[in-house]
Amino acid sequence: MTLGVAVIGMGWMGRVHTQAYARVRHHYPDLPAPELIAVADDVPGRAASAARRFGFAASTMDWRELLGDPRIEAVSVTAPNFLHREIGAAVAAAGKHLWIEKPVGLRAADARAIVGPGQVTVGFNYRHAPAVVKARALLAAGEIGEVTHARFSFCSDYAASPDDALTWRFERERGGNGVLGDLGSHAVDLIRHLLGEIVSTSAATAILIPRRRRPLAVTSGHQRGTGELAAVENEDWFGALFELESGARVSCEASRVATGSPNAYGFTIHGTAGVLAWDFRRMGELRVGDATIFAGPGDGEFGAFQPGAAIAMSYDDLKVIEASLFLRSITSGVALGPGLTDAVRAAEVLEAIEASARH
Ligand code: NAI
Repeated sequence: MTLGVAVIGMGWMGRVHTQAYARVRHHYPDLPAPELIAVADDVPGRAASAARRFGFAASTMDWRELLGDPRIEAVSVTAPNFLHREIGAAVAAAGKHLWIEKPVGLRAADARAIVGPGQVTVGFNYRHAPAVVKARALLAAGEIGEVTHARFSFCSDYAASPDDALTWRFERERGGNGVLGDLGSHAVDLIRHLLGEIVSTSAATAILIPRRRRPLAVTSGHQRGTGELAAVENEDWFGALFELESGARVSCEASRVATGSPNAYGFTIHGTAGVLAWDFRRMGELRVGDATIFAGPGDGEFGAFQPGAAIAMSYDDLKVIEASLFLRSITSGVALGPGLTDAVRAAEVLEAIEASARH
């Protein structure tokens, strides 16, 4: 059995979704095999070159052409944030299943505007790391007692150099609220997923590198700016204090200018009887009290990838897991991965951070 898929936006995430579609059959042979029907990107030549490289049957510069193609049952939306609402809503309204990247638009209202009969999976991939799944199971089993407080940190250095180009990510109209939607949405999703709902927020935000140079050419991904200097319009950093429904307190920091700390994503959770800590950069390890334990078969989807504990899994594997949840949601009719409700809720918390920082 096959399932026709298309990808809109062929940058980093477009590639990772495409490769996940190609690999999902290797790890989940019971699922329908995705068939790469078409790819869209508005940069001349980019979709055509992706079609050649990855094996899509067709390519286009206009994503709207995909909507009427009955062979396309599911669509990945991996375009920049400001397009999520328009493309996501059109794809969903066309009756297609949707795998859409976080943060799902610029505001909570954008994620709310996506409505349709199909399944929707949102790219909150850190949930799927087997050690995170294990942490969630240990929390539910009371392994560390009642959670009292926690620290979540999603800091990276992808914009740490003032020479990094002023791409769409730094503009309010196209990149929304900057690091809030970018890394903060992942952090908020993980907090909610592991510890429950956030009921109150107090926060500070900052633009720490206020001006950057525009890129001279059309860009995707990380590059130096060599064009004119222009203002950075959205946040480089935030620090937030949350109170959870459970009464637990959480401090949460995210930064895109954390020099020397690439992809430093993780958490430390304290309970009345112990501590759990996870660092994305050592994805397969979980600290439980004084011990470091390794994720292995039986922890989340680990067993679909490796036969024994402590064999490293990769970031891209998390996207293969996400693809499997998306496909299984489609075949079962039951939403299995993080969905639009989670995207809306994360965006609402990020808006609360912005509102608190304004006071
Ligand atoms: P990118 O800039 O590398 O790629 C975006 C692509 O979309 C580019 O190829 C661009 O030409 C294309 N595009 C722009 N306008 C278009 C249009 N009108 N029609 C078709 N294609 C268009 O960006 P990246 O890093 O891949 O990010 C894309 C999305 O994925 C963002 O929403 C971002 O927040 C999310 N993301 C999620 C990650 C995760 O861990 N889940 C990691 C990185 C990004």
